[in-house]
Amino acid sequence: MPDGGSLVFLIPLDPKVPDLVLMFNIAERLSDQNQTTGRPHQEKFPRLLRADRIYGTTGNLSYLRRYDDFPVYPMSNLWVDTVGQNQFGGDKIYVVQTGLNVVQRCLLMATDPGDLVLDPTCGSGTTATVAEQWGRRWITIDTSRVALALARARIMGARYPYYLLADSREGQLKEAEITRTAPRTEPVHGHMAHGFVYERVPHITLKSIANNAEIDVIWEDHQTRLEPLREKLNAALGTNWQEWEIPRDLTTEITKNTELGKKLSSDPSLCSLCTPWLKDWWEHRIARQKEIDASISAKAESEYLYDKPYQDTKKVRVAGPFTMESVSPHRFLSVDENDEVVDGWKLSSGSSPYDKQQDFATLMLENLKTAGVQQAHKENRLTFSSVTAFPGTKMICGEGRYTEGDSPESPVKRAGIYIGPEFGTVSRPDLVEAAREAGDLGFDVLIACAFNYDAHSSEFEKLGRIPVLKARMNADLHMAYDLKNTGKGNLFVIFGEPDIELKTIGDHITVRIRGVDVFKPQTGEVVSSGPEGIACWFVDTDYNEESFFVRHAYFLGQNDPYKSLKTTLKAEIDAEAWESLNRDTSRPFPKPTSGRIAVKVINHLGDEVMKVFSV
Ligand SMILES: C[S@@+](CC[C@H](N)C(=O)[O-])C[C@H]1O[C@@H](n2cnc3c(N)ncnc32)[C@H](O)[C@@H]1O
Repeated sequence: MPDGGSLVFLIPLDPKVPDLVLMFNIAERLSDQNQTTGRPHQEKFPRLLRADRIYGTTGNLSYLRRYDDFPVYPMSNLWVDTVGQNQFGGDKIYVVQTGLNVVQRCLLMATDPGDLVLDPTCGSGTTATVAEQWGRRWITIDTSRVALALARARIMGARYPYYLLADSREGQLKEAEITRTAPRTEPVHGHMAHGFVYERVPHITLKSIANNAEIDVIWEDHQTRLEPLREKLNAALGTNWQEWEIPRDLTTEITKNTELGKKLSSDPSLCSLCTPWLKDWWEHRIARQKEIDASISAKAESEYLYDKPYQDTKKVRVAGPFTMESVSPHRFLSVDENDEVVDGWKLSSGSSPYDKQQDFATLMLENLKTAGVQQAHKENRLTFSSVTAFPGTKMICGEGRYTEGDSPESPVKRAGIYIGPEFGTVSRPDLVEAAREAGDLGFDVLIACAFNYDAHSSEFEKLGRIPVLKARMNADLHMAYDLKNTGKGNLFVIFGEPDIELKTIGDHITVRIRGVDVFKPQTGEVVSSGPEGIACWFVDTDYNEESFFVRHAYFLGQNDPYKSLKTTLKAEIDAEAWESLNRDTSRPFPKPTSGRIAVKVINHLGDEVMKVFSV
């Protein structure tokens, strides 16, 4: 916690709770006792009386604690409020999902904004979701791809509240408004580690009242006006009222027919004389109490409510950028007993140590047969009449037959199928070798299927007469051992080479995306589609050859993405800002210091391809 305080969490009292009368020995509660007598200092008890904080019953004096003094109570270890309705923040999406409130409370008690939270058992990503909401950085891990896929969709699809940062101009202004002080003027940087601007509650204690000498000053100042009025009233009415005996008005005396009431009834001029004095006295009495109460509040400490930051309700937030990493990003090489490299993922028969990988290739062929190969447009889908194993070769492990064209007389074509590793990336040399093999074996086309291709393979589209189709395998296929082969879902998707034009203007560059090449199974040609097949595209204007950093983002798409975004975010989107993102030509940017830029293109099916340019 920012103040280095203890892990105390406060929850609100019910505002209907009446003022509390605390029956404890006041003397014991007043610290700072007189060392000689062991009693509280002489001035402190009268001060509590003056503040109207002593409640007396026969034989007892108690401290009157008001609701507003501390309208919360510390949380105990019994968290009954964390379960119940909507504890998952919507429908439960994972069978062993944890309630949001529990994770949130733990996170808020144990971390500050900007801290790093690690949850090694991610599940549906509750911890990451909560961390994202509350400005904590996070890392989460799971062995299950199902869990990771759910968590990714959950984090990316959520809308988060926009909390006011302490280190922002709005935050400075809000803080000034709450504390009734002049706004701070130091420069702001939007650092998360400075936290948010939180709601807070006063924490008025008996001790803080008893030690507040200002109460005496206020009280004595008002006495100079109250006492003459009380004396005038007592003299005129023949009473000896002490301050606490003075009635609100004289008519009640008349109604109750007391001795004084009878006197006032018989002498209306006495009533007219005293009524303004009485009114005056009460006005001063109320003003005195208000001033004392304000002084008590001002001098009291306050407690921050760390789960109640102020929010800018006009803004919504979406998740910040994050990456997903998996083990084994590199292709592994297996060797046999003679130290010869063995391609573990090609099909062969028999029970070698590589059976698991071979099982994987067989399984992929089975799925390929059922699902076919999808392209951005449905009419370009490749449907196989047969897919069979093709053993005995180095790269090609299957043969797929399909007809070129729609009529029954259309010629049957043979595709050589290369399946990439279960874990790892297919590189350009792999593709070159597979394409060469496909040519030698008389195939019409090579279809490579892989989870990932390296950046250089995106440019490799043809070897001699053999078109090279690169199908990206859906991550669901990692679970193919466990899932039914129904042919549903876009399991194998071809995403062609993006057609990109670079322009240099002085020392600046612009990138234009003209479309993506598409294989037409009807004709066997590769043609360029327009930019409407592209959902979004990104530019890393200074690519370091390791990780793609989105420095420019643009959104195309034919399905009115502006409207969809508005509906999804349930928010107004600045049309001008949107216009600058909805384009096929990038804003100009300076030449990269690394000498390279990278362009990543994503289609409506969520498939992506990346191309690197030396500039
Ligand atoms: C109880 S769930 C976590 C639920 C999560 N808090 C949520 O809200 O959805 C436990 C998770 O731990 C994962 N898991 C089990 N053993 C693991 C291991 N050795 N390493 C990482 N994750 C593991 C499981 O796959 C499962 O998703």
